[in-house]
Amino acid sequence: MKVRKAVIPAAGLGTRMLPATKTIPKEMLPLVDKPVLQYIIEEAVSSGIEDILIVTNRSKTAMDDYFDYYPELEHRLIRSGKDEMAHELRAVADMANFFYVRQRETKGLGHAIARARRFIGDEPFAVLLGDDIMMSEKPVLKQLIEAAEKYNCSCVGGQWVSDEMLPAYCTTDLAHVEGRVYDVRHIVEKPKPEEVMSNYAILGRYVLTPDIFDILDALPPGRNGEIQLTDGLAELCHQKRMVYVDFDGRRYDTGHLTGFLEATLDFALKHEETGDWLRNYIKEKAKTL
Ligand code: G1P
Repeated sequence: MKVRKAVIPAAGLGTRMLPATKTIPKEMLPLVDKPVLQYIIEEAVSSGIEDILIVTNRSKTAMDDYFDYYPELEHRLIRSGKDEMAHELRAVADMANFFYVRQRETKGLGHAIARARRFIGDEPFAVLLGDDIMMSEKPVLKQLIEAAEKYNCSCVGGQWVSDEMLPAYCTTDLAHVEGRVYDVRHIVEKPKPEEVMSNYAILGRYVLTPDIFDILDALPPGRNGEIQLTDGLAELCHQKRMVYVDFDGRRYDTGHLTGFLEATLDFALKHEETGDWLRNYIKEKAKTL
């Protein structure tokens, strides 16, 4: 199994981050000096992905503009001696082959993924959710792709989450295989207390076989009246083998204000231009709190 294509659903209305996201797509909010979406794409590319489909909507053209060339700006930068930044901008657009499809109706994550059918054709593919930003030694998607290739099946990635957070995610019924890998027996989206099977949730990373498309097309609306990807995965894991990787790395939920601030701080602390400055600033600030 070789995974070359990825789908990034980015058609949501960003209602959890208003008012900032009224006119700026939440995927374009800056995390230190890059938009959130760029981190996701860098993870995909460093995991071996070549072709990326972004599922977008009519109000989010800033995303395709960002992954395009901008000759006027590049010339201006070069004329003023900022060649390095000009090359950096071009490198962003050249990172992968970018494709776009619009989700014309907001009908849920499963519906968004189903828009990718023609692009994917008959090969396995990755899905990366834009809210979940990872900081890890080995890219999280790469950890999943390695497991999908080893076991020759679909693979979902996640971690243990607290009882309080679990109802916002999903719950899985798992059977240990080896190391960080488990077989998936069942999944339930946004579980009620009596539906909880384990605290291992799926957190924004998937490697799926194209079998998912027939399943999604036949799926009735689930939680919130939306076509849920998780309901499709529950069906897929009953039909064929699916493994779960308890991935190694720190995950940030940038779809929430607090998660976004945690990510901003941690990435700024790691950044070579801002790390030392921020460390000193926090130490000074802490004295006054
Ligand atoms: C989505 C998925 C859910 C997953 C979560 C975190 O939920 O439906 O299964 O656990 O992302 O990746 P949402 O954040 O869209 O409510």
